[in-house]
Amino acid sequence: MSQVQLKNIKKSYGNYVALKNIDIDIGLGSFFTLLGPSGCGKTTLLRAIAGFHRQDSGEIYVGEKSIGQLPANKRNVGMVFQDYAVFPHLSVFDNVAFGLVQQKVPAAQVKERVAAILKTVHLAQHAERMPHQLSGGQQQRVGLARALVIRPKVLLMDEPLSNLDAKLRIDLRRDIRQLQQEFGITTVYVTHDQEEALAISDQVCVMYDGWAQQVGSPWAIYNQPANRFVATFVGSNNFMPVAVRSDGELELLGTRLPAPPAVREHASASCVGAVRPEKVRVNQALAGPGVQVRGVLRQSMFTGRELQLTVEVEGHGTLDALTAPDEAIVAIKPGHELQLGIQASDVLYFAEGETGKLLS
Ligand SMILES: Nc1ncnc2c1ncn2[C@@H]1O[C@H](COP(=O)(O)OP(=O)(O)OP(=O)(O)O)[C@@H](O)[C@H]1O
Ligand SMILES: [Mg+2]
Repeated sequence: MSQVQLKNIKKSYGNYVALKNIDIDIGLGSFFTLLGPSGCGKTTLLRAIAGFHRQDSGEIYVGEKSIGQLPANKRNVGMVFQDYAVFPHLSVFDNVAFGLVQQKVPAAQVKERVAAILKTVHLAQHAERMPHQLSGGQQQRVGLARALVIRPKVLLMDEPLSNLDAKLRIDLRRDIRQLQQEFGITTVYVTHDQEEALAISDQVCVMYDGWAQQVGSPWAIYNQPANRFVATFVGSNNFMPVAVRSDGELELLGTRLPAPPAVREHASASCVGAVRPEKVRVNQALAGPGVQVRGVLRQSMFTGRELQLTVEVEGHGTLDALTAPDEAIVAIKPGHELQLGIQASDVLYFAEGETGKLLS
């Protein structure tokens, strides 16, 4: 069942088209993330849902109700901002109580609801503090409590973690996800951090240039990217030119392989192959058909958890490989040779161009 429906949303600033035609359904109680590079239109879309500005055309529904023309304070959505946006002259308690006081909720109820939500976000003991006496992570919890306390139908969050350090970001994202599940609140979350998006979401929408490029589960976005942009933006990939032959085969890194049906049907003599670095095998036999090439190690970085290798394959440029730490491979010095293997089943094929679509 969908809770938020965005139907053909378009939005321009002057003659710059920021949202081209956004058509998305967001399920009731789900955690939905807009992911994309700076300037792709994430905030523009979130602000349209919040009612901070009006889309040029298209409709927004929450449940059965069309809200696209209502003022922001009549939409029953909560919003958490990147820069906390807490009132500096109000205590934690008064910051969180603000929306309830505006709604003229009786004082005893305000006290009860604020106390309960402060407990949920682990700030009960700081209720009387002023914002400048809080850390960034605590201020963001105030922002979260303030949005949740009004019991909105939809919670919107625009990069709520981007001002925090890496460790806090991971702690707070776990808390946000847990709270979201406890409350069962439909959430639209904005980030340009792909790992965060995959970790926290039920569904991810990858945006680029005012378009939704793909909507899917984190698993689908990572393993079946709809086009080359998604494959580039989420995780990393080795892209390799592929010659498509008329005899039903293709040529990848100088080796012929059977072409998958969608590649054969693709009306072009060339396309692009993609393999994730973690799928590239180093000094290891292949378990099925594929490509094996020798290359020269250019760079080797051991990060503790994994080993990142950059390998030059003569005539084909460099390939990145990511392996589990292996003492024998760590010992190989730059300038020395090693063998790379790519299984045919680990290669995805895309049409050419920045947003060339997935063929296989
Ligand atoms: N008020 C405005 N007037 C003119 N152009 C704007 C305005 N607000 C945004 N834009 C442009 O619209 C595009 C989308 O902006 P938006 O803020 O939605 O991007 P974003 O995806 O949120 O990026 P970021 O990750 O940097 O926050 C950008 O190219 C931006 O320059
Ligand atoms: Mg933004």
